[in-house]
Amino acid sequence: MKYVGSKARISRHILPIIQGAIDRNGIETYVEPFVGGGNLIDKVHCHNRIGYDNNEYLIGFWQALQTGWNPGTVPMSKELYTQIKDYKELFRPEVVALAGFCATYNAKWFGGYAGTVKTKTGEIRNYYDEAVRNVLKQIPALADVVFQVKSYEEISPSGCLVYCDPPYEGTTKYIGSFNHSHYWEWVRKMSENNIVICSEYAAPDDFICIWEMERTTTLDKASRTKAIERLFVRRGSGGVFAIYIIRLRPRYGLEYRGKEGSEDESVKSV
Ligand SMILES: C[S@@+](CC[C@H](N)C(=O)[O-])C[C@H]1O[C@@H](n2cnc3c(N)ncnc32)[C@H](O)[C@@H]1O
Repeated sequence: MKYVGSKARISRHILPIIQGAIDRNGIETYVEPFVGGGNLIDKVHCHNRIGYDNNEYLIGFWQALQTGWNPGTVPMSKELYTQIKDYKELFRPEVVALAGFCATYNAKWFGGYAGTVKTKTGEIRNYYDEAVRNVLKQIPALADVVFQVKSYEEISPSGCLVYCDPPYEGTTKYIGSFNHSHYWEWVRKMSENNIVICSEYAAPDDFICIWEMERTTTLDKASRTKAIERLFVRRGSGGVFAIYIIRLRPRYGLEYRGKEGSEDESVKSV
């Protein structure tokens, strides 16, 4: 599904790291607290997969699609889009999400109606139809994912691989605000009982970057910027750090390079 902050384009790079950690450690449950467009969870193989998000419309959308709802039955005109945008409470959650994500420019939540347009090359494109077709293609790969509406701090997994892809600091907002220091504090806690791998551009000092890649991001028609996508895991402090790294190496499928506390301290995916 086209989605703001989608990991579809980098999934071929980060999936082997995440899947490797699941397989090497015999992890049975994969958890995504910020599942969004499901563009990574749809490629992960694990006995149980759970996707949370605090957007109730989005979760309602996935649940409805899993039970056979056909978005093609909704005649999404500009008028209907506007009505849904203004009177969300009158529509079913999946219909609100359909308008908010699929009938809107660049999948930005109610970011303006995007129907049929003539592109610079003269080609006629129906963005809404394309978006719906995209989602329908994704559904078989999401059939057994458990989707639930929750904010990340309400969940407390244990023994799982937790992949976090939160709203990045300083980027486009989703619904509501996001407290980043509160989030990192939660990640620290979750890292005690789970393998937690986080996407972000930057992280606090007690996290180590295990993978990075420059990519161009397009937030709207006018702005194209380069940014470095990174994956982080928590480094413990003091004695815990050594244990953590030693455990990381054979069990988590991550190779440690450099000495603890030295300048070249880093880990790299294998
Ligand atoms: C970067 S997007 C995830 C994109 C997803 N990985 C993909 O590839 O499609 C971040 C998601 O976090 C959700 N979100 C924001 N605040 C949240 C919170 N407090 N708890 C749970 N989800 C939240 C947003 O609704 C959004 O779907």
